Amino acid sequence: MSSRHRLRNYSPVFPDRGAANIAAAYAAYNEAGGDYAAYADGDPTRLYDFDGLHGYADRQVWALLEAKLSALRATGSRSISILDAGCGPGTWLRRLVTRAYTLGFTSITARGFDIAKAQIQRAQLLARDLEKLSGVDLTFEVAHLAGRLPEAGGSVDITLCLYSVLSHLPVESLPNISSEIARVTSVHFITTVRAAGSTPTILIDSIKKARHFSHDNSRDKYEIALYDGRHMIFDFHLFTAAELQNYFADDFEVEDLRGLDLFHNRFAPDSRWNPASLTADVQFCNELERLEENLCQKIRFHGTGDPFPAGGAPPRNRDLEMSWK
Ligand SMILES: C[S@@+](CC[C@H](N)C(=O)[O-])C[C@H]1O[C@@H](n2cnc3c(N)ncnc32)[C@H](O)[C@@H]1O
Repeated sequence: MSSRHRLRNYSPVFPDRGAANIAAAYAAYNEAGGDYAAYADGDPTRLYDFDGLHGYADRQVWALLEAKLSALRATGSRSISILDAGCGPGTWLRRLVTRAYTLGFTSITARGFDIAKAQIQRAQLLARDLEKLSGVDLTFEVAHLAGRLPEAGGSVDITLCLYSVLSHLPVESLPNISSEIARVTSVHFITTVRAAGSTPTILIDSIKKARHFSHDNSRDKYEIALYDGRHMIFDFHLFTAAELQNYFADDFEVEDLRGLDLFHNRFAPDSRWNPASLTADVQFCNELERLEENLCQKIRFHGTGDPFPAGGAPPRNRDLEMSWK
């Protein structure tokens, strides 16, 4: 099979509850266009450089994804199916498809979808090289994460929902979304969400472009005013570790739940608040690494309770990896 890209004729209509806010998120990521990929992923053509603003977190997520991919290949399987819900510019799916190909998977089915048409157009453009790979069936399309997914039950090996997609959805929709993702996913579901207490960002671009931003925690509303005159308000939920687990606990065995990038994004060299000299300070960087590793699974560090009994994570079949940052 060769890869193919589809963009259905699409007019965003969001008939369900919270429609206006979902439409607002759609508009924000649509307007951000290519700036979002540059902000989130650095150079989107250098897939494994991880030189975006969230480079540390990206490397952690990638280490996990690569391990899952390799483990599936080690079972002898040559066929894999991957789904990316809220794929944005498609960087994660391109990473996975490219790596799956080099690992020797000969049949790779991958679908990414997102509500923002501009993100999907970007994903399609950036994925054109993958069209040349035989055995790759790659689809990017505009769709809204709600209701029934088109995939058959148990047909997806790895489902992703990375970097705040779930934070944009009304929390009351999460149990249904969990059930639907569980229906189609046979092995792994991996998600990251934005945590209560995380370092603020404006999500679509560098925080330097914001004149003002605020988050109303009681209403799950995020308001951003940019220097270029744009003003947006959309749904944004900050999760505690325990509630994230609770939304998915009925459908998944949770294999791992951890804080991600708790220290690097606050303390790593950043000219806005740390001196440039820290860039070369290997000892300081090692110390951050040590803190991340030691504390990422200590859920009480976040005051949210330990989700696992003393024996550790439960055994799993179809499992869920979660991170919050
Ligand atoms: C912070 S971006 C993350 C994009 C991508 N997962 C990544 O890690 O690069 C959040 C994405 O969620 C998408 N999104 C928000 N609400 C959505 C929904 N209801 N259905 C599908 N995508 C949605 C946005 O359009 C945006 O591209």
